[in-house]
Amino acid sequence: MIHQNRRKELLSQLDDDSIVIVSTNPEQRRNGDVNYPFRPHSDFYYLTGFNEPEALAVITSSSYTILLRPKDKKREIWDGERLGVDNAPEALNADKSYTIDLLKNKLPKLIKGYKSIYFDPKPYSIDDEIIKILANKKYKSLGSILHEMRLIKDSDEISIMQKAADISAEAHKIAMQKVRPGMFEYELQSVFDGYFKQHNSEHAYTPIVAGGKNACVLHYIKNNKVLKDNDLVLVDAGCEVDCYASDITRTFPINGKFSKAQKQIYQLVLDAQIAAINNIRPGAKINNPHKAATDIIKQGLIDLGILQAEGELSQFYMHGTGHWMGLDVHDVGKYKDNDKHREFTPGMITTVEPGIYIRSDDKIDPIYHNIGVRIEDDVLVTEDGNTVLTRSLVKEIKDIESIMQLQK
Ligand code: GLY
Ligand code: MN
Ligand code: MN
Repeated sequence: MIHQNRRKELLSQLDDDSIVIVSTNPEQRRNGDVNYPFRPHSDFYYLTGFNEPEALAVITSSSYTILLRPKDKKREIWDGERLGVDNAPEALNADKSYTIDLLKNKLPKLIKGYKSIYFDPKPYSIDDEIIKILANKKYKSLGSILHEMRLIKDSDEISIMQKAADISAEAHKIAMQKVRPGMFEYELQSVFDGYFKQHNSEHAYTPIVAGGKNACVLHYIKNNKVLKDNDLVLVDAGCEVDCYASDITRTFPINGKFSKAQKQIYQLVLDAQIAAINNIRPGAKINNPHKAATDIIKQGLIDLGILQAEGELSQFYMHGTGHWMGLDVHDVGKYKDNDKHREFTPGMITTVEPGIYIRSDDKIDPIYHNIGVRIEDDVLVTEDGNTVLTRSLVKEIKDIESIMQLQK
């Protein structure tokens, strides 16, 4: 029903003579006979809820057709059961279903008479076939309409994302209690690997577990160094539940106690993060959180003598303060309208993730060298302000230190 309602809502925004064509991902080969775990394409999944590779949905105001892999006794012994053409109409609420190998034959008939074709080609073979079939017919961007729908989460999506946030928050709490000097970054990562799997979820992205100076490498994913006494560790890890993401970063002392310099930098990031969250409400411009965060971090770094008044903040804070989150961890949806930042509206979910990264070649007091701090929460815009989905996870210095006393 959810998916049917979404298809209806999409069509209500298109002219009557429109047809929507959307395919899912193929299997991706890792090496030899081994595939990566399959994940559907988010646009396709949003409209169909169907979780098999090599499928195509064709949607009009009068019919919903699905093309999918045929039943195949031999392949099903190796790869598991397939839904199959006969079961698809009832299982997916489709009017018609065909095997995907009939694409060349069926698609030209399905599109006949429709004036507006909505289709976003991806670099995969089904879409290459579709491009050939459409020949010189023009098609319009499906994403420009569908992604605005995906940006505003409905109550089902919000409850799944709350579940993902809760699982990730609990894993971060356990990691705070398990970390020890001498442990490897990958050992700490294994807390997330295990906890996510135990809760039937996946990593929504490759986790970052970065001790000391590694935290200053923004996309550090090697996670193979020793965690040292007196260093901080930055962990950016979030799970995906039913294809919906969570995205949390916490930074904490490996030995359970922040040093004075670490506290100064951490508190600055926390103040910036809280100010940014307080700027999220319906009607507020979506760049207000970034402005609030950068104002606080800039002044704080000047006060600490780390940044000159005329210096560039980007030396220490070089990324944005948030991004949309949903089926994709960096989710779809525009940030600007006619080149102007848009406003928050209820149902949007954004991350809030300011940071400060001080490398050893930065010419400042060495007590601040190799400190990298980011604090990231997931925030839902509500009718009267916002709800932090990841609120169950501590982030105040005293709360982190006290939770870390309860070692596991
Ligand atoms: N974990 C990816 C990000 O924070 O944007
Ligand atoms: Mn993020
Ligand atoms: Mn993150």
